Amino acid sequence: MIDYQGILNNIYQEVSKETDKGEIATYIPELANVDKNAFGIHLHLISGENFSVGDSEKKFSIQSISKVLTLALAISKVGSDIWSRLDVEPSGNPFNHLSLLELEKGIPRNPLINSGAIVIADVLVSLFENPKEDFLAYVRDITGDSSINYNYKVANSEKKTGFNNYAAANLLKSFDNLNNNVEDVLDFYFHQCSLEMTCAQLTKAFYVFANKGKCLLEKTRLTKSQAKRINAIMLTCGFYDEAGEFAFEVGLPGKSGVGGGIVALLPNEFVISVWAPGLNERGNSKLGMQALEIFTSETNQSIF
Ligand code: DON
Repeated sequence: MIDYQGILNNIYQEVSKETDKGEIATYIPELANVDKNAFGIHLHLISGENFSVGDSEKKFSIQSISKVLTLALAISKVGSDIWSRLDVEPSGNPFNHLSLLELEKGIPRNPLINSGAIVIADVLVSLFENPKEDFLAYVRDITGDSSINYNYKVANSEKKTGFNNYAAANLLKSFDNLNNNVEDVLDFYFHQCSLEMTCAQLTKAFYVFANKGKCLLEKTRLTKSQAKRINAIMLTCGFYDEAGEFAFEVGLPGKSGVGGGIVALLPNEFVISVWAPGLNERGNSKLGMQALEIFTSETNQSIF
C-alpha cells in the first residue's frame, strides 16, 4: 500500500523550501489579489479514499481548467459532430496565440486553447436558453456539490481587459466559425473561467474522466469513449506549449489554469489537484508542476 499522506507531506516540505515561486497572473486584474504563498493538494482515489495537504480547502479561480468541463458538456450533448469546427492537435503555442488561427482559416487547433474554448462556448450558447445557469448546474451535478459558483468580480475584471479574447472571437466570426454574437459568447466564456473551486472540489469534478464517464454519484455523464478522448486531449493539449514537458515530467492527462490550479488524473486510479498561484513563463503553475512530478515519481503511478 502506497503511503499517500506521507508523500503529500514530503511534497509540501519540498516546495515550501522553494524561493522562486513563479509569478502571479495580473493580466486579469482581479487575480492579482491572491497570496503567492498559498499551496494545497488534494488526492481522490477512485476506490474512495481522500488525502490532502496545505490549502486544499481554499477556493481559487479555475480559469482554463473550466475548458475541459465545457468540452465535456458540449460533447455529451452534440457528440462527435463538434469536430467539424475545431481540431485535436497540440498547438505548440501559448494559450492565447492568434496567428495560427488566421493561418488555419478560423479552425482552432484544439478545444483547450482560448480560441477552441470560445468555439465550445459558442456551441453551448446555441444549445441552452440560459447557458451560464445550465453550465453551472452541470458542474454542480458532476461534482455532487451545489456550493460551487462563479466569481462575478473576476468575470467582469476579465471582460474589461480581455482584448486578446475579443480578437480571437472576432477572427472566428470573420471565418464563419462563431454562430452567436461575440459579446454573448465571451460573456459565457469569461464566466466559465471565473468558476471558483477548492482542490478537493476539483478532484470531484474530474472524477468523471478517471471513472470511464461515470461521475461521483455513479451517474453516467459521458460514454467510455468520450471520457477516453477527453483524456487524450488533456494529455496532448492541456498545458499549451508545455504539454510535452508535462507528459515528460509527470506523465498524466491534466489541465492547468492561470489561477495556479492544475488537475491531473490516472484513469481508474485517482484524480489529483494542486494549487500554487505563481506561474512559470508558459503560464502554468510552477510549484504545481514540480509537486506533480514528485508525486508520480514517488508513487510510480503514471500512464507510462
Ligand atoms: O482567457 C484567458 O486568458 C483566461 N480566462 C484563461 C487562461 C488560462 O487559464 C490559461 N491557462 N493556463
